[in-house]
Amino acid sequence: MDAAHIIRAKRDGRALTDEEIRWFLSSYTADEVAEEQASALLMAIFFQGMDDRELDTWTGAMIASGDRLDLRAVSRPTVDKHSTGGVGDKISLPLCPLVAACGAAVPQLSGRGLGHTGGTLDKMESIAGWRAHLSPQEIVDQLDRIGAVICAAGAGLAPADRRLYALRDVTGTVESIPLIASSIMSKKLAEGTSALVLDVKVGSGAFMKDVGSARRLAETMVRLGTAEGVPTTAVMSRMDTPLGRACGNGLEVTESVEVLAGGGPADVVELTVALAREMLALVGLHDADPGAVLAAGDALPVWRALVAAQGGDPDAPLLVSTDVRAVRAQRSGVVTMLEALAIGLAAWRLGAGRARKEHPVSPTAGVVCLAKVGETVEEGQPVLELHVDDPDRLDAAMEALEGAITIGDEPPPPEPLVIDILRP
Ligand code: URA
Repeated sequence: MDAAHIIRAKRDGRALTDEEIRWFLSSYTADEVAEEQASALLMAIFFQGMDDRELDTWTGAMIASGDRLDLRAVSRPTVDKHSTGGVGDKISLPLCPLVAACGAAVPQLSGRGLGHTGGTLDKMESIAGWRAHLSPQEIVDQLDRIGAVICAAGAGLAPADRRLYALRDVTGTVESIPLIASSIMSKKLAEGTSALVLDVKVGSGAFMKDVGSARRLAETMVRLGTAEGVPTTAVMSRMDTPLGRACGNGLEVTESVEVLAGGGPADVVELTVALAREMLALVGLHDADPGAVLAAGDALPVWRALVAAQGGDPDAPLLVSTDVRAVRAQRSGVVTMLEALAIGLAAWRLGAGRARKEHPVSPTAGVVCLAKVGETVEEGQPVLELHVDDPDRLDAAMEALEGAITIGDEPPPPEPLVIDILRP
């Protein structure tokens, strides 16, 4: 076997054999295949795709690259959620404690930011002292005690994905159905959850820009999960405009706590409750009413316990940026569009995301949408607020925001946030 031969085969559109796939991934994980060769294969897969058999083998090889977590000792039913990534997508933060407050255990093994989309761990790490890395025993104990864990997939879990994920982020190979499906499903299947709900984002701020490709991604992942005996539901949700108002690590934690306290933006609440319903249904907890639990603030004590159990102080104020600039409405009217991709890119350029995989992210940088789609603004009124510590980043962020705000005379027709739900 040699890497260049495998790269050429995929480049030329040949399906890889099971042996080739297993050899390539195990050699890459063992540092016997170079980063540039893995990058080249990713790009070839990006253009040529993989058939079902290749994808099953690729996903299986990614799982086999590491350990599988054993959650059978947890006394409650386990169910997790994973999003394909969006702008302002902080849903895991309120959702994990909410589903725990309703009786399930949520092993929310999460990742860092990818491209213009934020990562749950980057957000949680804006809480001083909070620890992303837990041992398998700590995960099981915390799930048993609190019902909720948000942590990094340990170094031993699907290590091939950890490396490929970071490599894809910097090589323009994120937006590929087989690469996204195998990345998500390898982690989720290795983590040992008994059921899974996927939030498949569709729209300008998502990796899947149209409903057709999002549906293909959703079907692919539901197929991979179900074939492994993990009942998997996919919720397709709109991502043309940021979720909620806050985009940026610490800013999103603050907004999530508002949601957990029974307030917060309506779209974040709606999606959190919709996903919670699907998660609870998959594990047979049909009597729980996640909408009522969230509105009553009854998930907040679970959040506080989760933060404290992982070394954070739930009462400590979060850091705030040293500089805040406004982007103002150029005319009076109704906001008809706030472009998710542009706002995600601006937040990223302000410091909320990373340009190289080894870069740190800012806990304070980001964008707050003071007005949302459908809201009325007066000329000169601030629509966006840019939070930044390093003012040199402002110009690039402003450039990303060119054309991001559209103001019209009439409110846009209402569009449902949840487009479709694919159940196993
Ligand atoms: N989330 C993941 O875990 N992997 C991807 O490829 C995209 C989103």
